[in-house]
Amino acid sequence: MTTPIIAIANQKGGVGKTTTTVNLAASLTERRKSVLLVDLDPQANATSGLGLPKTPGASVYDALLAEEASLDAKILESQFLRLDVIPSELDLAGAEIDVAKTPDYLHRLRRVLAPVAAKDTYDFILIDCPPSLGILTMNALCAADGLLIPMQCEYFALEGISVILNLVQKLHDSGAAPKLVVEGIVMTMFDGRTNLSQQVQAEIKKHFPEQIYPTPIPRSVRLAEAPSHGLPILAYDPNCTGAAAYRQLARDFLKRHRR
Ligand SMILES: Nc1ncnc2c1ncn2[C@@H]1O[C@H](COP(=O)(O)OP(=O)(O)O)[C@@H](O)[C@H]1O
Ligand SMILES: [Mg+2]
Repeated sequence: MTTPIIAIANQKGGVGKTTTTVNLAASLTERRKSVLLVDLDPQANATSGLGLPKTPGASVYDALLAEEASLDAKILESQFLRLDVIPSELDLAGAEIDVAKTPDYLHRLRRVLAPVAAKDTYDFILIDCPPSLGILTMNALCAADGLLIPMQCEYFALEGISVILNLVQKLHDSGAAPKLVVEGIVMTMFDGRTNLSQQVQAEIKKHFPEQIYPTPIPRSVRLAEAPSHGLPILAYDPNCTGAAAYRQLARDFLKRHRR
């Protein structure tokens, strides 16, 4: 078996990608799964949200560009059991341009991540993507087996999702990402008291009945506070509604990926 690689992506910023990556990872480790989280966003929110420093040279950046590269030395233990991290740093911002100049620019990440997955030391590898469909996100999609799309419950949600789904289709059809499937859509910042949240959820469910995860992630102040303490929600406030929602997401995720 090789470790499944899941990219968490959406071209919009602020929709809950990083919150979902960090808290799904932590919830999986609570269920005794081991996870490698790769922070691919130059903003390094997942890195700092797990209490790790942004250290120059610590990210995947040079491995993406080197001819002979290994990610082994980039993998850090987090302060949480069974959760390892490849952190991000500002240099990754320049990676878009530098990677674009390489011949196999869509597959730079796959080239270095595939050997890690092949060792099968983790149950899952999760990639937190930047808020664009640029070269870094495309590298994540071409390295991944599955795409998990966090969707904020707001108007134009369907339009937004069609943009990323078109890209997935193109990468698939061109042979650049032959094994990529949309493994799930998770509704975030759900407010059950508003019609809007209900309507958006119903609409996504109508169009993507197989992909949508049954439990939306509620809007929760505790979820927004946790990163400033460098903690996943399970460590910051294990009994809040946000923690319960991410635990449920991990359960549903594991039903889709029997490991
Ligand atoms: N369910 C939620 N309830 C309240 N705030 C949230 C929730 N999910 C994310 N946030 C907050 O919203 C902001 C954007 O979330 P983030 O996960 O960083 O999005 P992205 O990675 O897509 O840019 C952050 O400040 C985060 O703490
Ligand atoms: Mg983010």
